Amino acid sequence: MKNLPVANGLRLLGNPSTIHQRLLEWSGRYGPLYRFNLFGRPFVVVSETQAVQRILRERPDGFRRLSAIESVLTEMGVDGLFAVEGEEWQRRRRLVTPAFTPNRLRGLDDTVDVITDRLARRWRKDPVEDVHADLMRFTVDVMARVAFGYDLNTLEGGGNAIEERLQRLFPMIGKRVNAPVPYWRYVKLPADRALDRALRELREDVDAVIATARTAETPTNFVEALIQQHEDSEAFTAAELFAESLTVLVAGQDTTANTLAWLLYHLAQHPEVRERIRAESAEEKRPYLAAVIAESMRLLPISPFLFLESLRPYVIDDTEVPAGTAVIVLPGHGAVDEANFDDPEAFRPERWLTGYTGTHNAKASMPFGGGPRFCPGRSLALLEIEAVATMVCRDFELSLPTPHVPPRERFTFAVEPVGLRLLLTAR
Ligand code: HEM
Repeated sequence: MKNLPVANGLRLLGNPSTIHQRLLEWSGRYGPLYRFNLFGRPFVVVSETQAVQRILRERPDGFRRLSAIESVLTEMGVDGLFAVEGEEWQRRRRLVTPAFTPNRLRGLDDTVDVITDRLARRWRKDPVEDVHADLMRFTVDVMARVAFGYDLNTLEGGGNAIEERLQRLFPMIGKRVNAPVPYWRYVKLPADRALDRALRELREDVDAVIATARTAETPTNFVEALIQQHEDSEAFTAAELFAESLTVLVAGQDTTANTLAWLLYHLAQHPEVRERIRAESAEEKRPYLAAVIAESMRLLPISPFLFLESLRPYVIDDTEVPAGTAVIVLPGHGAVDEANFDDPEAFRPERWLTGYTGTHNAKASMPFGGGPRFCPGRSLALLEIEAVATMVCRDFELSLPTPHVPPRERFTFAVEPVGLRLLLTAR
């Protein structure tokens, strides 16, 4: 790896919340393959689209997620599908994925519709102060119904104890995975103690759900579907049920809320796009809406890079990367590369429609990852995103306040918009 261009890894420590922007900027400067060292450990960064796709496909045998992800999630008891590796991952993926597909869970469409209506009511009732916070309430309400059958209704009922417990998880996972030293194994700060308490209480919540879920006939939530699944095949232990249901909650909440927030930010700047979504909203098939969502996720993927680790020696562009090397793949780079998309910085949904003749390599945009570990929640996320985008374009006028300060991108474990301000008024 000695021949690779070297970046100064220490510069990532100054502002970990912009790590994705720094990695992308370095790809522009150092090229599609470069390395940096951090605390004595070499990291290789790969941004060329085909190399990224090949690496993602080499899982689970050739590459795994960075081992810190598994150890951090395992000690929290959240060692579900996202965290496990190898044969155990294969077993879980086979059993878990079918349990939260829209056709397996009775009433999923209705759940999303009911909660979208609540979001619209909230926005009609009071001036919208913090769109992003409301979208988080929307996704936590959907995910709690999907995972446990709980109707949290944080959108209409204010705060909720379970929501508060969940809100502690996501930032702490990001903080710990990125931490140079696992200090919490030696000293617990107040935030670590609050996390331990939240996890203990969540375990009690999930145990109560498991007890009632065992009596359900047709699964209406994820825990019931997992329990029923094992009656057909292999049993999940209580710890596995906890890990899988929390994984789904954590993986499905901020990701979808952030994606929606960036989408609304794009929509606020393009009245002609909103008009077209509105015109299409009564149709059964809505290709334009799908194109708008794909375009927003291309420009602002909430997961522009993935932390991996090689499990055996691997050659990238004539460079041999030894087993055990931390490899960061940057799909976000190819998504705005003009080799893949013409005028790549422009928000242009038409590029996703059939018949588009410009440069368009659809596979270079990978907002849900790729290969055998691509996001299994994609259909559910798209169901939610389509429902909210349609509701907003149909029922509200959307604009940016003046003067307008663009939101800042902050990476925790997904990229969120900080300081996003949007004006929504009922039509
Ligand atoms: C717009 C919303 C979402 C985005 C952008 C997103 C993105 C991603 C990405 C980039 C990955 C990593 C894929 C890879 O390693 O190749 C992932 C994995 C995962 N996602 Fe999502 N996700 C979203 C919503 C959801 C939802 C709603 C759920 C649950 C219902 C979910 C559950 C998971 C799980 C369990 C994994 C781990 C899969 C595995 O390792 O086998 N995600 N997601």
